Amino acid sequence: MKMLKKKISNYTGSKYVVLTASGSSALHLSFLCIGLKKNQEVLIPNLNYVATSNAVYQCGGIPHFVDIDEKTLGMDFYKLDNYLEKNTRIKNKTCFNIKTGREIKAFVPMHTFGNPVNIDLAKKIKKKYHLKLVEDAAEAIGSFYKKKHVGTFGDCGVLSFNGNKTITSGNGGALLTNSKNLAKIAHHLSSTAKVVTSTKFTHDSLGYNYRLSNINSALGLAQIEKLKSFLKYKKNIYNQYKIQFKNIPLIKIFECQKNYKTNNWLITAILDKRIKNLKNRLLNEANKKSIKCRPVWELLSRLKIYDKAVRMPDLNCSEDLYERIISVPSTSKQTLIKFYNEKNQ
Ligand SMILES: Cc1ncc(COP(=O)(O)O)c(C=O)c1O
Repeated sequence: MKMLKKKISNYTGSKYVVLTASGSSALHLSFLCIGLKKNQEVLIPNLNYVATSNAVYQCGGIPHFVDIDEKTLGMDFYKLDNYLEKNTRIKNKTCFNIKTGREIKAFVPMHTFGNPVNIDLAKKIKKKYHLKLVEDAAEAIGSFYKKKHVGTFGDCGVLSFNGNKTITSGNGGALLTNSKNLAKIAHHLSSTAKVVTSTKFTHDSLGYNYRLSNINSALGLAQIEKLKSFLKYKKNIYNQYKIQFKNIPLIKIFECQKNYKTNNWLITAILDKRIKNLKNRLLNEANKKSIKCRPVWELLSRLKIYDKAVRMPDLNCSEDLYERIISVPSTSKQTLIKFYNEKNQ
C-alpha cells in the first residue's frame, strides 16, 4: 500500500495520497473533508458520470448543474463566471445562491474522458467566489495541465482505478491533496474513524470502510509500472483514429487543447450538427458489427433522481453535445497484444 501511494505521489506530484476502495468513495471523502454540509450546493458539469453528484447527495448537499465548453468537454468557466456574477452574492467570504438562499460550497470540474479543463480559469473562479475546488480526475491519470498532473490543483482531487480506467487495481481510487490536515481527515474517515490504543478500540465519528485492500494495491502497483507504456499505446490508437477519420466528412475526432496533455482514456467522435439525427443509427450499426461504440452518459439534469437539484437555465452546450458525442473503442485486447509483441521484438 505504501509503495503504491509513493508511486502515485511521485507521478502526480501530489504531496499526500489517500488510497480508497473506489473513485466514488474518494469523491464522498473529498466532500466530507471540505466540510460539505446538508443543503449546501455544489457546482457540477451537466455532462458527467453520476458518481460525482451522487457523492454530493450522500453528504446531504444539493448538486447544481452547470454547462460545459465545447473546446474541453468540461465546465465552461466563462459561462459559469457570468452566471455566478448574476446569481450569487458574497457575504463573509461565503458564496450564496440568490435564488435559493443556500450557500454554494464548492465546484467540481471534471476532466472529461481524460481531457484537462482550463485550470487557470478554475483557480480564478475559486478565488473570486470563495469556493472549494474538488477536481474529479477519475478518468485522467496521465493527463497534465501545463506540465502539472490534473487532480493536484484544488483542495483535493480524485482518481479512479476502476477496471475500465487507464490503469486498474480491480476496484480502487485515490484522493490527492497537498493539505496534510485534509489527508489526515480523509485517511481517518476511510478507516471507520477508528481510534485504537493499547486499552481502547473506539470510533470518534461516523466513518466508512473506504480503504483500498492490500490485494487491490498489489494489482495497482503492477499496473502503475506499465502506465507510461499504456499511455503510449493509447496515443497510438488516437493517432490511428485521426488518420482514419481525416477524410470522413461531418465527423471529427475530439482534440484536446494545446498545452494540455490528455491520457486519451476514451476517444471521442463528434458528429456535425447536420447529422446528429444519425447518432443512434451509427451506434446501432457499429454495435451490430461488434464495434463497441458508446453514447455519452445521460445528462445529470435529466436524471429523475436529480429532479430537485438546481440547474443553470442555459445548459445548451451539454444538451447539444449529448446528441453528437460517440465514444469509440479506445482499447482492444488484440491491438494491445500486437503493441507489446512489436515492442518486444
Ligand atoms: C468522472 C467520474 N467520476 C467518478 C467515477 C467513479 O469512479 P469509480 O468507478 O472508481 O467509483 C468515474 C468512473 O468510474 C468517473 O468517470
